[in-house]
Amino acid sequence: MVNLIKIAVIPGDGVGPEVTAEAIKVLKKVSELRSNAIGGVLDFAEYDFGGKAIDTQGVPLPQATLEACKSAQAVLLGAVGGPQWPRPVDANDASKGLGPRPEQGLLDLRQELELYANLRPMSFASDSLLKSSPLKYEVAEGAEFMMIRELIGGVYFGKRQETDANGQAWDTTEYSVDQVKRVARLAGLLATAGKEHKKIHSIDKANVMATSRLWRKVVTETIEAEFPGVELQHHLVDAAAMLMVKNPRALNGIILTENMFGDILSDESSVIPGSLGLLPSASLGGIIDGKSPIFGMYEPIHGSAPDIAGNGVANPIGSILSAAMLLRYSLGREAEANAIEQAVRKVLDDDELNGYGMRTRDLGGECTTTQMGDAVVRALGPML
Ligand code: NAI
Ligand code: MG
Repeated sequence: MVNLIKIAVIPGDGVGPEVTAEAIKVLKKVSELRSNAIGGVLDFAEYDFGGKAIDTQGVPLPQATLEACKSAQAVLLGAVGGPQWPRPVDANDASKGLGPRPEQGLLDLRQELELYANLRPMSFASDSLLKSSPLKYEVAEGAEFMMIRELIGGVYFGKRQETDANGQAWDTTEYSVDQVKRVARLAGLLATAGKEHKKIHSIDKANVMATSRLWRKVVTETIEAEFPGVELQHHLVDAAAMLMVKNPRALNGIILTENMFGDILSDESSVIPGSLGLLPSASLGGIIDGKSPIFGMYEPIHGSAPDIAGNGVANPIGSILSAAMLLRYSLGREAEANAIEQAVRKVLDDDELNGYGMRTRDLGGECTTTQMGDAVVRALGPML
């Protein structure tokens, strides 16, 4: 009997389904050619999520979707949200307020699956992207870091009050020692995983926020106690945001930061290679020892891009590189993950079948979403 490796697919809204389809094409090629190495055949099943689930089932995270994600080996996600949500509960009666937001489904899913660490690597997928970086060549050259964003704490999960009768609203940032410690430990593991130890840059706002002072203390203690050979530098978030575009190489290594700062800074980091559509992510949870394959959810860092959705022009590379991360972390297949990254590089730099330097619209080209995905699949074949 063939072993089926279950991948739950939740394409979501806007460009989510468009880019996810390309990532699946790439994974199917890997499954077709390398099922022996990966230990089975990848089996994709799609579930409603986000705005689409609100419209079909009334909630952004239906129980069946959650169960399917829990029982899968990995989850492949597109994006959620759009200007049509939240919809009024009753179109004829504004006093009934608004329905659920798709984004809440994503927060709930991350929490339910206990995905506390979101890995967002920033590197140049290709040499030609480095040459076309919005930053000067000499500034961008050699910049490469892995951002680790804490994913289920901080202000996105703190107590919240929508605007009340007094015209006040608030959000609260909360962190516990345990929450910081587990993500700091993962940063330490990743810093020591390769031959050379990487430097950890921890980013906070410790001059103002109590949670940041806790963050700084726990990160320092954890790294000093458990990873004594790892260099650790603290940065304040405002200065780090400046440094990221002034001299991004100064942040090389691992960037470790809390939920909201990581959300903002990772969008900023996408400017270095040139587009939000390029960057992938892996959300991991459970016990991470840096060696065994682990459950994870994989998604590009961008949102549903309603301004371009439906036109077939979204850049699928962030989603395709997320598929590579899925192979690396959840299936333990470094070789096939590398092959996908090589194939993306080839298509961007030099693709014999399609001419040179394929680019989607966000990078000034005319290539469509599917053309880009097809080109990666073609380039991938001989590499597997
Ligand atoms: P966004 O990330 O969707 O788009 C920002 C800009 O980047 C837009 O100009 C968009 O066209 C462009 N862009 C994004 N992905 C692209 C791609 N693959 N190829 C080419 N261009 C791309 O952020 P925005 O517009 O602030 O939010 C739109 C919706 O997405 C909102 O409802 C927001 O809440 C939601 N969102 C969802 C996320 C998720 O599902 N993980 C993350 C961020 C936002
Ligand atoms: Mg974001």
